[in-house]
Amino acid sequence: MLLHKHLTPELKSRLERLTTRNGWTLRRAIQSGLDHEDSQMGVYAGDSETYALFSPLLHPIIRDHSGYDLDGHPSDFSLEGLPQEALDPSGEFILSTRIRVGRNLARYAFPPAIGARARAELEAEVVQVLSGLKGELAGEYHPLASLSEVQRRAWVEQHFLFKPGDRFLDSAGVNRDWPRNRGIFHSTDMRFIVWVGEEDALRIISMQSGSGLAEAFHRLKSALDVLGEQLDFARDSRLGYHTACPTNLGTAMRASVLIRLPRLSRRPDFHARCARLGLAVRGLHGEHSDAEDGIHDISNATRLGVTERDIYRQLWTGIRQLISLETRSGILNDTRRGN
Ligand code: ADP
Ligand code: ARG
Repeated sequence: MLLHKHLTPELKSRLERLTTRNGWTLRRAIQSGLDHEDSQMGVYAGDSETYALFSPLLHPIIRDHSGYDLDGHPSDFSLEGLPQEALDPSGEFILSTRIRVGRNLARYAFPPAIGARARAELEAEVVQVLSGLKGELAGEYHPLASLSEVQRRAWVEQHFLFKPGDRFLDSAGVNRDWPRNRGIFHSTDMRFIVWVGEEDALRIISMQSGSGLAEAFHRLKSALDVLGEQLDFARDSRLGYHTACPTNLGTAMRASVLIRLPRLSRRPDFHARCARLGLAVRGLHGEHSDAEDGIHDISNATRLGVTERDIYRQLWTGIRQLISLETRSGILNDTRRGN
């Protein structure tokens, strides 16, 4: 765990004395790592100030995790000159495409540290802005507490809604006052979704069935343009967008496909092969879930020190290659069988 690697006894006694304006302390920042030995990082930020005040611990952890030297995080949403056709027009491999970004508001503590009253205020402010969205982004907001259990489960199962009870988030304080003042905004066609009050104040999501990565990207970009004009997102020029978990800093973007690769994914080097393409593998129901029927969630591994355009290109190229390997291994198997 990166926390253990970088928190020396000297640093601990130096940082133990510090508290951010929102009451975030070293102890609160590292609680999740102390509770869960299987954490990769083990730290959470309670607000933007955390990244400055606790930088002697957080910057080395962030550098180590991202391989980026914190010398200026770039942003570029243009797709000019990149391939924009569907990755899998026949729909043989890719079931769906999703791109999300995390955002927090500069004026508020982040979900690990926010108090009940501020969480309610933040929700009201965000919902007011979301209610003004027009065209394909227009939709409605459902507080989590207002959903029937049947509806809630169905949306989780359909990949639209977050799950409750993540143990890492629990230790970080994110699940306090659950389920109050959390919720989901969605457009009528469910292609544009915003989670309010999960791990980050906002998770802004563009998703659709099939392999239209460019379409999902353009939709997300137009939503971010409108929302960014009305909401003051927490960010700085070195770390990019500030997120509760430092693994999401930078673009805070995870672009993924749900893809069926039954032959390739059986090979022992599948994860290593994806890693060499800059891709991370999750299961059918997101983080900490397992693959089913050879279906995996494959996304960009890096969010910091790269642009949104880089992420798009890396996913597009990497997935194209995985599909070609899957197809070739099918042909090879058939040839060996003498077909
Ligand atoms: P996050 O992506 O917000 O970090 P998770 O990995 O837990 O969090 O994923 C959240 C939800 O999004 C899960 O239900 C997951 O299956 C779903 N999801 C991720 N990628 C896709 C995709 N390409 N198509 C459909 N659903 C997806
Ligand atoms: N705290 C967890 C760890 O350090 C988070 C890993 C990234 N996942 C996330 N949902 N932010 O392993």
